[in-house]
Amino acid sequence: MTIEFYLWLHLGGISLILLSVGGLAQGGDSGRKLLSAAHGIGLLISLVGGFGLLARYQIMWPWPGWVFAKIAIWFAFGASATLFRRLPQLMRPLWWGAWGLFLVAAYLAIQKPF
Ligand code: HEM
Repeated sequence: MTIEFYLWLHLGGISLILLSVGGLAQGGDSGRKLLSAAHGIGLLISLVGGFGLLARYQIMWPWPGWVFAKIAIWFAFGASATLFRRLPQLMRPLWWGAWGLFLVAAYLAIQKPF
């Protein structure tokens, strides 16, 4: 598989995560099943794409710091569905935080600052 394929997979998964986070942040039960499935599938696809990219770029262990930071962000997105359900009073800051995390993840991938 090519680098372009894994990048496409990675971004495809991330777009699905962001779509689902937007929906789950609304609370309520309508569409929750679809959104939860999209959230899980997006996490899985973005993970496969991300590690495929690491392999194709030959970024081996020990990984640079930006890779660890991106993995931490991936876990934060994984926790977001539960956080929206458990902490509805924090819906707005969490929602804006998800956008902020996306920007940080993109910055880390493009600039690789550490
Ligand atoms: C397991 C976690 C992750 C790993 C291992 C990973 C790894 C990577 C790698 C290796 C690249 C390619 C960098 C390059 O082209 O030089 C990349 C690109 C990218 N990643 Fe991730 N990533 C992860 C999670 C995330 C998350 C959670 C987001 C956003 C929410 C994200 C957003 C992006 C974006 C926007 C790009 C495209 C940058 C470009 O156009 O070059 N990544 N990622």
